[in-house]
Amino acid sequence: MAEYAPVRTLLFVPGNRPERVDKAVNAGADVVIIDLEDAVPLALKEETRPMVREKLLQHKGQNIIVRVNALDSGFLKDDLDEILTEELSCIIVPKVESSANIREINSLLLEAEKKKGMKPGATSIIPLIESARAVQNIYEIVCERTDPERLHTVAFGAADYTLDMGIEMTLEGNELFYPRSRIAVACKAAGVEPPLDTPFMIDVKDTEGLKVDALRAKTLGFQGKLCVHPSQIGPCNAMFSPGADEIDYARKVIYAFEEAEAKGLAAIQLNGKMIDYPVVERSKRIVRLAERIGSQ
Ligand code: GLV
Ligand code: MG
Repeated sequence: MAEYAPVRTLLFVPGNRPERVDKAVNAGADVVIIDLEDAVPLALKEETRPMVREKLLQHKGQNIIVRVNALDSGFLKDDLDEILTEELSCIIVPKVESSANIREINSLLLEAEKKKGMKPGATSIIPLIESARAVQNIYEIVCERTDPERLHTVAFGAADYTLDMGIEMTLEGNELFYPRSRIAVACKAAGVEPPLDTPFMIDVKDTEGLKVDALRAKTLGFQGKLCVHPSQIGPCNAMFSPGADEIDYARKVIYAFEEAEAKGLAAIQLNGKMIDYPVVERSKRIVRLAERIGSQ
């Protein structure tokens, strides 16, 4: 996943709808996720796998990853045996709840990669954090360094999380404040990339609701958001990219501070705002992020 960074949007497409994969790769998302889990009925799992493999080969070189089925689903081993290819650099694994789960997934991947003559570690993983137990264990999950290393970040799934908790998913989103905060802090503390936020599913047509929800996640430290409809891509790409004013101001801060520092000052005011080293560092990050997005 590191090679795609920063990732602002990841668009889900059901694995059993190959024509939608073709559309999705041109929809403007940073990453497309072909889904083998919840979007595919149980009875269709088997016939869906070859379609997914074909799409991966057809769209070589595009940023496409696959959400496989969970460890305890009974489908995961066959998913890996069938869809793993050099073209697939990352999988999302749902319902991961512990560091032991990460080690189990690593073993399954090592076996499947060996069978296919692939380099061990060719496939990285994004665990989906979507239960109370997963949130409770998040730090041990993101600290798990398998050999080879596979985990660069995690994603949050609020539908399954609220189901597990027996609570409502609301527009206000207060119920997600705690798990989101825990996940973002754990990723930072463990030195992995910022996490990816849950899809907004309360009302897919509610763009304002989506923006507010994405802003909440961004404010807490998420780098991007899972999307369940192409219409969610534009607003989320914009939300997780620095705006023109923000970039402009960041450049002014850096310039003003460099001038001041040359004169022996380490704290200045710019338009009434206090500028010191942490503020300058943040401004540099904004400019770097803007440059990376611009060059994608
Ligand atoms: C995603 O898988 C979710 O449960 O929200
Ligand atoms: Mg889920």
